[in-house]
Amino acid sequence: MTASAGEQERFLRDFHGRNPGVTARAMARGPSYDAVVREVAGATRVLDLGCGDGHLLERLVGPGRRSFGIDLSEVELAAGAARGCRAGLMQGRAHALPLRDACVDAVVSHLAFTLMHDPDGVVVEVARVLAGGGRFVAVVGGGPRGDAAGDAFTGLLELAAPLVRKAAVPRLGDVRARSDAGLRALFAPARGWSSLRVDELPIDLSGSPDEVWEVLAGSYELDGVDATSVADLRARFLARCDRWRRSDGAIACGLAARLMVATRVARE
Ligand SMILES: C[S@@+](CC[C@H](N)C(=O)[O-])C[C@H]1O[C@@H](n2cnc3c(N)ncnc32)[C@H](O)[C@@H]1O
Repeated sequence: MTASAGEQERFLRDFHGRNPGVTARAMARGPSYDAVVREVAGATRVLDLGCGDGHLLERLVGPGRRSFGIDLSEVELAAGAARGCRAGLMQGRAHALPLRDACVDAVVSHLAFTLMHDPDGVVVEVARVLAGGGRFVAVVGGGPRGDAAGDAFTGLLELAAPLVRKAAVPRLGDVRARSDAGLRALFAPARGWSSLRVDELPIDLSGSPDEVWEVLAGSYELDGVDATSVADLRARFLARCDRWRRSDGAIACGLAARLMVATRVARE
């Protein structure tokens, strides 16, 4: 379903208002937060765009560094503050950052840039707040990696397809943020970027049947499916789990993502 910018933001605010911390709970076992942290090792002023409950910010806090995050969802930010997140947390939209020009050395975004409508507008804002030579580091994508025979995520989406169609969750973001060619167009030299690196970032979230269900049950696709149907889906998923069991006993669950690093041209 194609949704307007306003509908997408309303959906995201509403979803995260009901499910604060959902992404961090699902992804914390995987490698993707640390992959971002490594890329901004030298930066002293770091902005997390779409920071959710501040899980990544907590990993970024360190001596001599000022870290802060911006998110649409007041509830996500409140969850971070209640947990004692030591970074600054601000409510705002990526398309209109409440920040002055060239005030940060790095902007990071973990599975958030990829959800944003009008990524051109976001890229302009990111370029504006980055100091010359600063980096935008984002984890984008996050869809299933394997096929239904070998991977529980794809298998669950297949099981859930009839329910998901009825739930009619809006399609989020812009396809350009999910492909190499699209990212190259968004971060082109003509737009003030001196380089772009895009690496495959396979995210292995394999684990026990319950751990894997926890990862998948938080996906946007299942929002709007009624509680009885979700309970039934969970029972059918757990009954099938053995077909995705690896030789080490874990249920195979992989996400396909990319780590992108774009560098802003040095300012004159
Ligand atoms: C999948 S969650 C990721 C949260 C966090 N980065 C993490 O990985 O734990 C996406 C987050 O992006 C935020 N978001 C989406 N679009 C946004 C926008 N245009 N401006 C600010 N935040 C946005 C949502 O509110 C949500 O908290």
